Amino acid sequence: MIEDLKKLEIDAQAEISSLTDPKLFEEAKTKYLGRKGLLAVISSRMAEVPADKKRDAGQELNRVKSAIESLFADKQKDLGSSSSAGVKKIDTSMPGTFYAPGTLHPLTQVMEDVVSIFQKLGFRLVEGPEVETEYYNFEALNIPLNHPARDSFDTFYLDNGRLLRSQTSPVQIRVMEKTKPPLQIIAPGKVYRPDATDATHSFMFHQIEGLMVDENVSFAHLKGVLFAFAQEFFGQGTKLRFRPHFFPFTEPSAEIDIWSDTRNSWLEVLGAGMVHPHVLKSVKIDPEKYTGFAFGMGVERLAMLKYGVEDIRYFFENDLRFLKQF
Ligand code: PHE
Repeated sequence: MIEDLKKLEIDAQAEISSLTDPKLFEEAKTKYLGRKGLLAVISSRMAEVPADKKRDAGQELNRVKSAIESLFADKQKDLGSSSSAGVKKIDTSMPGTFYAPGTLHPLTQVMEDVVSIFQKLGFRLVEGPEVETEYYNFEALNIPLNHPARDSFDTFYLDNGRLLRSQTSPVQIRVMEKTKPPLQIIAPGKVYRPDATDATHSFMFHQIEGLMVDENVSFAHLKGVLFAFAQEFFGQGTKLRFRPHFFPFTEPSAEIDIWSDTRNSWLEVLGAGMVHPHVLKSVKIDPEKYTGFAFGMGVERLAMLKYGVEDIRYFFENDLRFLKQF
């Protein structure tokens, strides 16, 4: 019996040291130490051992048993207790951790709403870069170097003649360079101006640019499109007011106000006008043949008006008490 125990110990050593799979680990453990395992089989022969050898046999049995147990214990540490599926059971009926699904930021929602209204009117969604050149942000838009009109588009300048776009209007140029009329695009995005932050100003905000160019496009089309948009976005019966204005890249130009019942006043929401012939020429579109209108609206303005938000800074503070209301 003592011989068999020694042999079992050697076999166990070899087998345990070669184990890599937690499942096979469990099987081997049962094979050696289980109730009907190899060790149990040998120890059941204790009864046949002559009385004067029982003591030695008993001691050897205990020694081999604890040796094999500690080999398994060491191996279990090696395999990593958490990765051994058979060792640590997962209770699949346990309730999981709840992660609240996120919601879209109110500004994102407003942009998506506005864009989808214009898409239904046939405008195609495009985007342009936030880092621009003076050419696209100014020159091609009929705002020459040193022209006082540049002051109203105060700008963050970067290295090597680049800048952060101060309006989404440069997207008009990028589109017209590549696509010839008829064209209708809507272009949302971030713009930057070095304004001091207060309740109505932020150095970064969002605009949505619209542009339509074709033969015989008139100011009446501009009015019709903006009117349709306002009814859809703010509700049926929303009143619009067009005031004469100046933009270098449109002629004639207008600022458009929306009547607010809650504030009992007109509120400026967008700038617009007929694309200036100089702008069409700069992208090699014949202004004798084609005309177009363009508009640009402030997204924060729209959101503040629609949801009655009094301070633009709420949109950028990421306070969940504010964001969760949308
Ligand atoms: N880009 C102008 C602004 O930022 C808005 C505008 C766009 C006006 C298109 C006319 C046409 O104020």
